[in-house]
Amino acid sequence: MHVRKLKGFRDILPAETPVWQQVESAVRRVFGRYGFEELRLPLLEETALFRRSIGEATDIVEKEMYTFTDTGGTSVTLRPEGTASAVRAYLENGLHRSDPKQRLYYLGPMFRRERPQKGRLRQFHQIGAECFGWEEPEADADVLCLLWDLFAELGLSGRVRLEVNTLGCAADRQSYVERLRASLAGRTDDLCENCRRRLGTNPLRVLDCKSPRCQEATVDAPAILDGACPECTAHFDRVRELLSIQGVPHAVNPRMVRGLDYYNRTTFELLSGDLGAQNAVAAGGRYDGLAETLGGPRLPALGFAAGIERLVLLLGDARPHDGPVAYLVHRGEGAVAEALRLRRELAKAGLRADLDYQARSFKAQLRAADRRGARFALILGEDEMAGGTVTVKDLAEGTQTSVPAAGLAAYLGNHGAGC
Ligand code: HAM
Repeated sequence: MHVRKLKGFRDILPAETPVWQQVESAVRRVFGRYGFEELRLPLLEETALFRRSIGEATDIVEKEMYTFTDTGGTSVTLRPEGTASAVRAYLENGLHRSDPKQRLYYLGPMFRRERPQKGRLRQFHQIGAECFGWEEPEADADVLCLLWDLFAELGLSGRVRLEVNTLGCAADRQSYVERLRASLAGRTDDLCENCRRRLGTNPLRVLDCKSPRCQEATVDAPAILDGACPECTAHFDRVRELLSIQGVPHAVNPRMVRGLDYYNRTTFELLSGDLGAQNAVAAGGRYDGLAETLGGPRLPALGFAAGIERLVLLLGDARPHDGPVAYLVHRGEGAVAEALRLRRELAKAGLRADLDYQARSFKAQLRAADRRGARFALILGEDEMAGGTVTVKDLAEGTQTSVPAAGLAAYLGNHGAGC
């Protein structure tokens, strides 16, 4: 029996990688313009990092982490997200000592043992941005502009909508939890079993339950915003005002709670109507208390992460597979060695050429050139070898010319085969 890949894990095949590369290069461009620098983080961390940051009573920590004990007896976990690691790296490497204000981004795989479905995998990929050191609502607005501009760069701003909310400060959250519990006190029988349990452990999550029963039971639940303190209310109002000034469309969703416990104040999600049930393509918020939870100093911070698989679903396979510029067709004494030499020369000139190492018939090699989508076939037969030339066949036009081998790269460059 063949060994197959694990459920919820995917191979990203060459037909799809151009879209991934398109996303990755747009990310690097836009992050670079906004002054974000790349951070590369380990895939494996001590389990305690995620338990403390994401929260014990979250779905991720309760049931979705890939956790195991390594041979040294340490409990380790494949990272389910990047924020906790980014804060750990910032503190551990003393980045806050040189300059507490830092803008960082990362790109890479994350692991959550969720039920796989369209847009939901067990190994998925995130683009994440974290902005450390600023308390001001201007930082929130700037990060949201960056997120919006990233989607614009990918041509996707018309296909997503931005929802924002505030979770207030720790005190606001505490008083909100009491108000929420009180409002649901008479309705516990209407909640699903999981939410009845959550009412004790993490009541905010009840608002996020997908079960129609729970949604119905929480229709009249109070909004956090209505009970937020004056400072948190002013912060949120200012973020919204700045977004309006910057022309970033958004709507307040007072029911938005996030699946990770570290958030306070501003939270947000970028949603798409084209993704089915897993409609959040990016999400994030402020987490001013996380560094302290991890034993560091107080560090105001915020950020977001976008799921690359969901971005790729939105982009579709719009971009055609890039073929080589030229395909080297060789036959006869010494021709394959000359083809290899020419391929290197073209590569040095920034041109992508391809060839078959087997000296198959001209016809078979020309068919392969076509299949690969090459623009030119470069023919090296006996005559060409004897004369130091190459016959360049323009596969689009159907014309052919003899070109001295020494001038091949220049000829192709002049005939629209630039890199
Ligand atoms: P999150 O909402 O858990 O937040 O994930 C962010 C994004 O990752 C989601 O909106 C979605 O696009 C993608 N995603 C999450 N889980 C899956 C999955 N199983 N399969 C495919 N895509 C998925 C965080 O991870 C926070 N660390 C974001 C953040 C950064 N907050 C502040 N800074």
